[in-house]
Amino acid sequence: MQTIAIICQKGGVGKTTTAGAVGAGLMRKGYRVLFIDLDAQGNLSYTMRANTQGYNAAGILQRPETTKEEIQRTDQGDIIASSIELAGADTTITATGKEYRLREALQTIAGDYDFCIIDTPPALGILTINALTACDGAIIPAQADIYSLQGIAQLYSTLEAVKRYCNPSLQVMGILLTRYNPRLIIRREVAETLKETAGELHTRLYNTTIRECTAISEAAAKRQNIYDYAPKSNAAADYSRLVDEITEGSSRQ
Ligand SMILES: Nc1ncnc2c1ncn2[C@@H]1O[C@H](COP(=O)(O)OP(=O)(O)OP(=O)(O)O)[C@@H](O)[C@H]1O
Ligand SMILES: [Mg+2]
Repeated sequence: MQTIAIICQKGGVGKTTTAGAVGAGLMRKGYRVLFIDLDAQGNLSYTMRANTQGYNAAGILQRPETTKEEIQRTDQGDIIASSIELAGADTTITATGKEYRLREALQTIAGDYDFCIIDTPPALGILTINALTACDGAIIPAQADIYSLQGIAQLYSTLEAVKRYCNPSLQVMGILLTRYNPRLIIRREVAETLKETAGELHTRLYNTTIRECTAISEAAAKRQNIYDYAPKSNAAADYSRLVDEITEGSSRQ
């Protein structure tokens, strides 16, 4: 099982949208995918029609051995859903080994899936650290704005610390430019800088950029994935191109 965490402490950059669209795209290619919603906001759980009152991710962090039982099977795919309890994770998950809870949980189901896609909250707390410790690779969505650049630079000290203490094989798979509008010159300039930043941080900017597309929020409101809701949209085309880049990358490894 290849585990991919979608991370960025900046809010609203497209983490949840990317987690949903990448996972759904992998399923369309025939891969077995498990989604994990580690964000107390529960956005991914909502669009995937999962029940956040039932079995959930807070459960697996408390009791990693119960992971199999926490998986919900929805018509959008298999998911370990969010729960409001995750909001208190930084104060409730404090015991020694707290960074390894999710990693331990996923080891129990590693044979059952080809990919595990983790959506994370807009923070660098214990939940994101668990995702980074459990994953093989991380994708960083970013918008072409100056605060995203600042956010990525800050994110890197966390990534370095996790690599050093918890997960030496952690790889940043790439930075993904989201909500891109090529008509805005300032965005083009920031996109160029983002490419340079990626190089300095020893990763790359994905060749695929995700264009600004209204079908994305409509699909989320209708609780559908982008390919079913708007198969001919720019977003469906962009995300399937990204999924191709991801699977080409993993078959080279
Ligand atoms: N390419 C896009 N075009 C248009 N709207 C988009 C695009 N990507 C995301 N959005 C919209 O932007 C908003 C934020 O996206 P999303 O929820 O995926 O971000 P997030 O990083 O998960 O946010 P949070 O940090 O709050 O978890 C949503 O309303 C979503 O529908
Ligand atoms: Mg989100």
